[in-house]
Amino acid sequence: MSEYRHVSGSYWLETAPGPSRPALTEDLDVDVAVIGAGVAGLSTAYELARAGLGVAVLEARRVAAGVTGHTTAKLTALHTLIYDKLRRTRGPEGARLYARSQSEAIEHAGALVGELGIACDWETRSAYTFVRDESRVDEVRAEAEAAREAGLPASFVTETGLPFPVAGAVRVTGQAQFHPRKYLLALTQDLLARGGQVYEDTTVTGLEEGEPCRLTTASGATVTARHVVVATHYPIFDRALLFTRLSPRRELVVAGRLDASRDPDGMYITPEEDTRSVRTAPYGEDGQRLLLVTGEHFTPGTGDTPARFERLEAWAGEHFPGVELTHAWATQDNDPTDTVPLVGPLHPGARHTYVATGFGGWGLSGGMMAGLLLTSLITGRACPWRELYDPRRVKSTVREAPSFLKHQAQVARHFVGDRLRSSPSVDEIGPGEGAVVQAGHERMAVHRDEGGHLHALSARCTHMGCLVAFNAAERAWECPCHGSRFDVDGKVIQGPAIKPLEQRDV
Ligand code: FES
Repeated sequence: MSEYRHVSGSYWLETAPGPSRPALTEDLDVDVAVIGAGVAGLSTAYELARAGLGVAVLEARRVAAGVTGHTTAKLTALHTLIYDKLRRTRGPEGARLYARSQSEAIEHAGALVGELGIACDWETRSAYTFVRDESRVDEVRAEAEAAREAGLPASFVTETGLPFPVAGAVRVTGQAQFHPRKYLLALTQDLLARGGQVYEDTTVTGLEEGEPCRLTTASGATVTARHVVVATHYPIFDRALLFTRLSPRRELVVAGRLDASRDPDGMYITPEEDTRSVRTAPYGEDGQRLLLVTGEHFTPGTGDTPARFERLEAWAGEHFPGVELTHAWATQDNDPTDTVPLVGPLHPGARHTYVATGFGGWGLSGGMMAGLLLTSLITGRACPWRELYDPRRVKSTVREAPSFLKHQAQVARHFVGDRLRSSPSVDEIGPGEGAVVQAGHERMAVHRDEGGHLHALSARCTHMGCLVAFNAAERAWECPCHGSRFDVDGKVIQGPAIKPLEQRDV
């Protein structure tokens, strides 16, 4: 069994734990309420506070500790292979706006780092998308050309800093990498200093749209706000059925110490081998580097996660001999069916409610971009890429039809097929394992802990009723339909579900 059977946790969280914030216990009246304190929510709240608005951020768990606290923290406008696709689907102008919006967000974050003196290990690096398979070189060549046409400093290269040969790569210079929590915790401090309010352990349970809007929370406290931003990764309020246009994808990360002399000096990604992403970060006092390798993406709640960790660990050891792996964690992304994130009004009739979601694997530059875009919308300023990201876009319906239908077929297959699958008996569940078992007319999610104690829950996801499945490496129940995650006692770790799995007796 892999040593990563139980993940050790995110390096970002370990090295920047941060102070905790109070939960909301009293009613509140603000200009803007932002639900979710990841990079998108915090960036939006921060920009709005700078624009002079009264802002409150409501986070169900901890600030910058969800997906944002588990990323690889690359800040680049090169998103694997996107520009060749964008120039075909959105035209050259669409590709150019995408490049410009992402680049300006990164430049803006860099300017804030300088202005506020944020010590967040900010490093300027080139970003590369590489392939080793000769048959894919044309794809990379086309991407380099499209990225250059879109305005990025992109070129096709065959030499990189990687310790193995590549068949070809797109290189975009002048990109950045950093410590996401150090950056966002500093931004949070400045937000508070500007009169913003930030609450943790505050689950929003209801949204009433109006003038003003009204939010209810699990504690009973209510928030009235002129505007509401839903920045919960997967939107918890979804009146436009955005869930039909988002596919959840989980991805694993392993990290460990690497001698500085072997630093590949860049941020790398390949679409091959189920995706492999590589970067390094400063590590310790003696100038060493931390190597981060990401890959093995999968739909939450499917397959053998411990085996995936083993494969990723083997890849890191094979390609970076001598790396001493110390950390392992996982992250989650939402892939929009038409490639472009959904940032703007929450639904076609929305006047004061907004959403930011669907960043694929590029939520840091995307989240920062969302902060600037939503601030423009709320303050009435013009923004050239407003239409590109507008969740109400209809022209893309035809373009996204194939991936939309594929995603819906997958959801239907899980909703129906998972209920037909034969289930083991409780006795077959070993220590540390979990399985969905049949109990009368119901399916129960049963986990046996290392002490032999059974934890039993309803297996019915509280979002829309699909059956959850056990992720043994992370000891979590995961829903394959839209990616909700729950701990072994049913508590929500990740939405869109907001209610826990119901407790059951075995
Ligand atoms: Fe939607 Fe589970 S996350 S049904």
